[in-house]
Amino acid sequence: MPLLEKKVALVTGAARGIGLAIVERLAREGAHVAAVDLDYDAQVREVAALTAQGLTVTAGQCDVGSRVSVEAAVATTESTYGPIDILVNNAGIAGRAAPLEDLTDADWDNLMRIDLTSVFLCSQAVIRGMKARKSGRIINIASIAGKEGNPNMIPYSSAKAGVIGFTKALAKEVAQLGIYVNAIAPAVIETPILQQLTPAQVQYMVQRIPLGRVGQPHEVAALVAWMASDECSFTTGQCLDISGGRATY
Ligand SMILES: NC(=O)c1ccc[n+]([C@@H]2O[C@H](COP(=O)([O-])OP(=O)(O)OC[C@H]3O[C@@H](n4cnc5c(N)ncnc54)[C@H](O)[C@@H]3O)[C@@H](O)[C@H]2O)c1
Repeated sequence: MPLLEKKVALVTGAARGIGLAIVERLAREGAHVAAVDLDYDAQVREVAALTAQGLTVTAGQCDVGSRVSVEAAVATTESTYGPIDILVNNAGIAGRAAPLEDLTDADWDNLMRIDLTSVFLCSQAVIRGMKARKSGRIINIASIAGKEGNPNMIPYSSAKAGVIGFTKALAKEVAQLGIYVNAIAPAVIETPILQQLTPAQVQYMVQRIPLGRVGQPHEVAALVAWMASDECSFTTGQCLDISGGRATY
């Protein structure tokens, strides 16, 4: 039996990397998936490849840092497929690697808007409906940087720590209402986001992984599929690692 038969999912930052792998996995598990990204053309291309395989996926444009854009994406998803059962807050940027003294206000503000404010806006846009239906799953893609802190990635580490705090707080707020809220903390996963960083920064992160390799997007997607399903029935407010053993707490 597919894990997510006819569940409705909204996945952000879904045109490539981890988000695209999540879209494919949820759709293969039977979900109807709205895949949204800032890069609409890329999203349309990837969705066409998935629908050609018989999967139920639509493409949309959304800037996750804009309330208007997020509310429009939620409305379109619900008019296409019905109420959203699963929200995956995946969109994010790494920002540029730089020491604290070299960071600009724009570096900080942009990172916070895309990596943290987005989680607030997207979750707020679906929470009333989930509360009314007493059912829902919100899955936030945080980062090991939010648990351990990566030097030269202060805005990113701060935003991702914020995502973990947000996850814990919201999970407790809605725990009695059939809504599960969890986060995932990947270490280095092989996606285009690594191009935003210097090779030295990537090497710093990979060296800290006991399994001695980078992760793959489909490995993150497998954990998301479980978190989105009824199989995940006694886990909420957690941040689960997918880090090759980098953090063991
Ligand atoms: N790859 C890693 O090593 C790694 C590790 C830990 C956490 N993460 C997190 O996983 C998530 C996905 O990362 P990835 O590696 O797949 O990155 P990626 O750069 O490959 O993909 C990110 C996607 O988000 C989209 N995006 C960027 N800004 C957006 C916005 N304002 N609105 C909507 N979409 C936007 C991009 O267009 C892109 O398609 C991010 O939250 C990232 O922080 C990644």
